[in-house]
Amino acid sequence: MEQRKIIIDCDPGHDDAVAILLALASPKDIDVLGITCVAGNVPLTLTTRNALSICELAGRTDANVYGGCSKPMFRPLVTAEYVHGSSGLDLDDGATLPCPTMCLEAQHAVPFIVETVMTQPPNSVTLCLLGPLTNIATAFGEEPAIISRIQEIILMGGAAISPGNVTPSAEFNMYVDPEAADIIFRSGAPITMMGLDVTHQVLITEQIQERIRNIGSTVSTIVADLMSFYCRFDLERYGMLGGPLHDPCVIGHVIDDEIFNFKEINVMIEKSSALTRGETVSDWWQVTDRPINCKVAESVNTERFFNLLIERISNFPIDQL
Ligand code: RIB
Ligand code: CA
Repeated sequence: MEQRKIIIDCDPGHDDAVAILLALASPKDIDVLGITCVAGNVPLTLTTRNALSICELAGRTDANVYGGCSKPMFRPLVTAEYVHGSSGLDLDDGATLPCPTMCLEAQHAVPFIVETVMTQPPNSVTLCLLGPLTNIATAFGEEPAIISRIQEIILMGGAAISPGNVTPSAEFNMYVDPEAADIIFRSGAPITMMGLDVTHQVLITEQIQERIRNIGSTVSTIVADLMSFYCRFDLERYGMLGGPLHDPCVIGHVIDDEIFNFKEINVMIEKSSALTRGETVSDWWQVTDRPINCKVAESVNTERFFNLLIERISNFPIDQL
């Protein structure tokens, strides 16, 4: 498979962090053109800090990290410290990753996204979206010409037939900025949606955590420690066998397009109802004449996914300090 050029837009966040590491550990498959940060799991000052820390952990001080929008387009920010801790990347016993020494790029994320898509060859850049869609929707508004030039949008968000995780009907990324999500889903851009329908099957069990810890590198040890903190919340809330590894599903699909199966349907975003704000209203049985506007992941080979994740995390040197 040829190397794909991607921009990762994220709100680290424990699962975002693993997604970034998976991408950086896969240079033969992925060329990360840039990492853009958005407010989501925690405020922008922390999502940017955390993205820088993860790049440093990966030994990639050459990575370009950009700060983006600090709040949703029209609403106050809703965050998720209850899942990710006050730093957004809490470890057990209240520890956090060391403060990053590398700095953000001076350019704002939105002009970076516009400039990159406009200067790269048409249909050559994939947007991997792991947080609220504020940056991308803003970029679409500033330069609509990028919509037809994007190779693919692969996003973690929504729930086609599963219950929500922040309200009974909404997944967090869609809930935080439903207006931004509506712009994306109405844009006509090619969208692949990795929703809770599959990410709630990709669970970091204790056995998986042990396999990661046994790799024995600095990176794998930090990943295992991050997952130990991250799983606590989901285990208590859902009583699941482990925490759902939402965002790495996006990168796993970029690397191996046989991990997930998809269904092409229409998805629209609820914006006005307080009860169902952010719901990805999915015409699963095509009972309307709404046009198909995205591929929704409906099943996942979890063994194949975790084998890939562990194989790639093992790529980081054991002596990585
Ligand atoms: O609902 C899960 C999604 O919201 C993940 O991307 C998580 O990191 C948060 O951004
Ligand atoms: Ca995220």
